Amino acid sequence: MDIKKIDFQKHGDDRGMLVVAEYEKEIPFIVKRIYYIYDADSDTKRGFHSHKNLQQIYIAIHGSCKVKLTDGKEQQIICLDNQAEGLYIGHNVWREIYDFSSDCVLLVLASEKYSEDDYIRTYEQFEQSQVNS
Ligand code: TYD
Repeated sequence: MDIKKIDFQKHGDDRGMLVVAEYEKEIPFIVKRIYYIYDADSDTKRGFHSHKNLQQIYIAIHGSCKVKLTDGKEQQIICLDNQAEGLYIGHNVWREIYDFSSDCVLLVLASEKYSEDDYIRTYEQFEQSQVNS
C-alpha cells in the first residue's frame, strides 16, 4: 500500500520546539493546497474516499486521531499523535479518519488543488477501480 510515516526535522531548544518539513526532503511533492480539520467530535468519522491522483500528508499538529487505510488488499490503522510526524498517503488508497481527540487539529498537505473529479466516494467504486488498475 502506498503509505508511509515521515519523521520531520525537530529543532528544539529552551525556547520551545520548531518542526520542519521541506520539499524533496520530507515532502515528495509540491504543496498546492493545505487544509485542516478541527472541532471534530470523538464519534465523528470523516474521509471515506480515495483519490485518483492526489497525494497527501496528514499531520496531527495537535491532539490525535486514527486513520484506517486500505488499498483493497491490505489494511492498516495508524494513530496520529505526534506533531513531528506525517502520514504520506498516495493515490488509490481508501481512508477513514476517526477517534478524534477533542483538541485534534489535523493538517493536510495536498499535491493538487481541490477537484471533486479526483475523488472516489463509494467503496464499491473504489474496489472496482482497483480491479481495473
Ligand atoms: P469532505 O470531502 O466531506 O471532507 P472529509 O473528506 O474530511 O470528510 O469536505 C467537506 C467540504 O469541504 C465539502 O463540501 C468539500 C469542501 N472542500 C473544499 O471545498 N476544498 C477542499 O480542499 C476540501 C478538502 C474540501
